[in-house]
Amino acid sequence: MSLQGTLALVTGAAGDTGTATCQALAQAGATVIAAGRRHSASVPGASEWVELDVTSEDNWDRVIDLIQKRYGRLDILVNNAGINRIEKFEDVSLESWRATQAVNVEGVFLGIQRALPLLKQSGPNRRGGASVINISSIAGLVGAELNSAYCASKGAVRLLTKALALEFSALGYRIRVNSIHPGGINTGMVESIFQASVDLGLLDSRETARQLATAAHPLGRLAEPTEIAAGIRFLASCESSYMQGSELTIDGGYTAR
Ligand SMILES: NC(=O)c1ccc[n+]([C@@H]2O[C@H](COP(=O)([O-])OP(=O)(O)OC[C@H]3O[C@@H](n4cnc5c(N)ncnc54)[C@H](O)[C@@H]3O)[C@@H](O)[C@H]2O)c1
Repeated sequence: MSLQGTLALVTGAAGDTGTATCQALAQAGATVIAAGRRHSASVPGASEWVELDVTSEDNWDRVIDLIQKRYGRLDILVNNAGINRIEKFEDVSLESWRATQAVNVEGVFLGIQRALPLLKQSGPNRRGGASVINISSIAGLVGAELNSAYCASKGAVRLLTKALALEFSALGYRIRVNSIHPGGINTGMVESIFQASVDLGLLDSRETARQLATAAHPLGRLAEPTEIAAGIRFLASCESSYMQGSELTIDGGYTAR
């Protein structure tokens, strides 16, 4: 799964899945630009760190301009940044709803739209074309309680992916667009979900939350970020050259029921 000679941009790169993704892509030979809201001391494997709040049009313009000037290409875009708030539906404020859609949906929309000229340029020069990988979730395939805004956002990412896969193919762009649907991953996000369940008085401890989450996955454990990164690396590579608009579940069997 060589990515030699390719340039990849990963959003939310300081997070656990983002960091593992930068490392996996770099190990396969890609030059990796790690993007995140705040400066991160080190993202293993990344050649460069850029500040990028995915909800900001100006930020996207600046980052794409930098990539254009410094590298002149973009082969792989991983839309990984995301937030997840655990709230009862009746308590979700419009502000909170919009904050989730802004990062999880608009961030993906902006990223693909701003990166498109570079992806269009790079696609024909690479077997399998340019590759956009959108990190959705099992919550984009099936519902989850106390998670309405997140489920709505990840469902939107799933169908945005398919719509663009069709549109780019129809327009003759050599760009593949696929989504990944992880189950629970051992990351900061999942820890904050466990804590929120305790704070809402639904569960007595984070340990109980972890036990319940673990039991919901037939493989009997949550994923490690590297296991999600492996799927991302596959979709980034030309080994997946016939995958377009697909949804890759990496969920320990969660949605097989
Ligand atoms: N952890 C899980 O169980 C799980 C399951 C399914 C899907 N996911 C998805 O995987 C992706 C990675 O999440 P993770 O589990 O590594 O969590 P994480 O919290 O470790 O990483 C998320 C990253 O996104 C960044 N981010 C948030 N808002 C941003 C913004 N406006 N601009 C730029 N960056 C922003 C955060 O700073 C963080 O670095 C997310 O899209 C998440 O929804 C996670």
